[in-house]
Amino acid sequence: MSKLPFSQAAENNKEPILAVLHDTLVDSKTVLEIGSGTGQHAVWFAGHLPHLQWQPSEQQQNLESLNLRLDEEAPDNVLDAMVLDVADDPWAIEPMDAVFAANCVHIMSWGHVEKMFRGLDKVIAPGGFLILYGPYKYKGAFTSSSNAEFEQWLKGNDEVSGIRDFEKMDALANNIGLTLQKDHKMPSNNQCLVWQREKS
Ligand SMILES: C[S@@+](CC[C@H](N)C(=O)[O-])C[C@H]1O[C@@H](n2cnc3c(N)ncnc32)[C@H](O)[C@@H]1O
Repeated sequence: MSKLPFSQAAENNKEPILAVLHDTLVDSKTVLEIGSGTGQHAVWFAGHLPHLQWQPSEQQQNLESLNLRLDEEAPDNVLDAMVLDVADDPWAIEPMDAVFAANCVHIMSWGHVEKMFRGLDKVIAPGGFLILYGPYKYKGAFTSSSNAEFEQWLKGNDEVSGIRDFEKMDALANNIGLTLQKDHKMPSNNQCLVWQREKS
């Protein structure tokens, strides 16, 4: 058996995120996951929410690693992982009932976050959801000292990364017709933000 990519954070947060997805995606059928990483989330969420068709994705350079886990553990309702960089224009995918991303927007640059919303505009179906898990700032303030330290660590790795302002994220979402439905407070000073597009 090959050594699978592993994230302790994904292991820790998969249960609380599953509870949000379980309650939010009752009537959804298709989900695109951006930045599927180690594949732990795709395997766990699709395995526990069998009514969903889960589409994992990664940047080209991370696809091989993601596929190591998916090849071994993905249940039948996980589709083959696709290559997706949020800067792609257009994204090579049909409209989806929901888009999910965990711990991605503080890794990519702000320019890429803006491009992500350009892609989301075309991909989230009427009535569909955008669900983003991770740490956020509110009114310019970190929610904890550990998040402030995390920001320092992120910037030390890559100057363009950083914990995003909730208000700026919400403004980008509003621009493409998404309305905040719920801001779930999660363990370890994270949030799970759920926006929904009007049902038209
Ligand atoms: C910290 S990892 C999180 C991985 C996984 N979602 C998790 O929670 O374990 C950050 C992810 O952001 C993705 N990412 C960064 N920039 C990206 C971009 N421009 N387009 C798509 N994904 C990107 C990376 O490929 C990586 O999978």
